[in-house]
Amino acid sequence: MQRQKTDLKIYPSMTNNFSHRVQMSAKRVSDHLSELLISTPDSFEQQRPDRLISAMRHGSLNGGKRLRPFLIFESAALFGVTLEEALSAACALECVHCYSLIHDDLPAMDDDDLRRGQPTVHKAYDEATAILAGDALLTFAFDLMAQDHTHPDPAVRCELVLHLARASGMGGMIGGQMLDIEAETATPDEKAIRTLQSMKTGALIRFSCEAGAILGGASLSERKALIRYGDIIGLAFQLADDVLDQTSSADVMGKAVGKDAEQGKGTLVDLHGVDAVRAELASLIEEADACLEPFGTKADVLKQAARFVANREN
Ligand code: IPE
Ligand code: IPE
Ligand code: MG
Ligand code: MG
Ligand code: MG
Repeated sequence: MQRQKTDLKIYPSMTNNFSHRVQMSAKRVSDHLSELLISTPDSFEQQRPDRLISAMRHGSLNGGKRLRPFLIFESAALFGVTLEEALSAACALECVHCYSLIHDDLPAMDDDDLRRGQPTVHKAYDEATAILAGDALLTFAFDLMAQDHTHPDPAVRCELVLHLARASGMGGMIGGQMLDIEAETATPDEKAIRTLQSMKTGALIRFSCEAGAILGGASLSERKALIRYGDIIGLAFQLADDVLDQTSSADVMGKAVGKDAEQGKGTLVDLHGVDAVRAELASLIEEADACLEPFGTKADVLKQAARFVANREN
């Protein structure tokens, strides 16, 4: 069956602008991370081991769509926050994401050799180094989030740290990864699959959108609307990942495909098939649009982002 094309054409004038914004923001994030992740120790440090920094750079600088930073930038932009003002928070979140991928690929977890078209960190280095590089990226994320550049108001920084910790932790991404592993040996029902996906992938994507609201000093109702939007595109993102695992190739994805079925992962594609999941993706786009109504045309880029997430090809 043909890939379902949703209504990208309703924003004809935005399309170039959208891909330009995605590319520019991804480059800014990569450049900034490259400046931060260096072997030269900071004034309060003794040494940064070269091998550790090199593995951290391998796991965070070689490609990646930088979707989560993009969502922070565009959610914050609704409130007039510039990309430079949101950059530190965006890089902090991307460090958590990159750490999660390094650990997700380890032999004890998904046992993958390829990530972003390159050998995974434990393949390029070794397992111990990959574990430490992941740990150090996670720790650095909170260092960065707590720094003055993230926001001039310490209460705002504290709020970002708190919600990033919750999104990443036992009731968020890490909890979701545990459920994902347990699901390999159980037969999760639909509700259990939705919960695990909302945690393992949804939590960080939801936080991206909430972080924009926090940085921008949003009202409670605006913040709730962005959290709901984040929830919807977080689900769409993982559904698309699961469809692509069955329908795409390692060349296009830059990571192995066909692994979910092989490892007996609980996915909705496994439960309902690719066509049903594509139909759900189309309706999630409409739901995302509805959540963004209160922001009017200012939210056109986020509306496009929902389409980008649901229709992505890698
Ligand atoms: C991959 O995330 C892991 C999932 C949550 C499915 P991305 O597809 O955002 O990975 P990169 O950062 O672009 O490599
Ligand atoms: C990973 O989900 C979610 C994370 C928290 C890293 P997957 O295991 O499906 O991600 P890929 O397919 O390896 O990128
Ligand atoms: Mg996994
Ligand atoms: Mg994986
Ligand atoms: Mg996957």
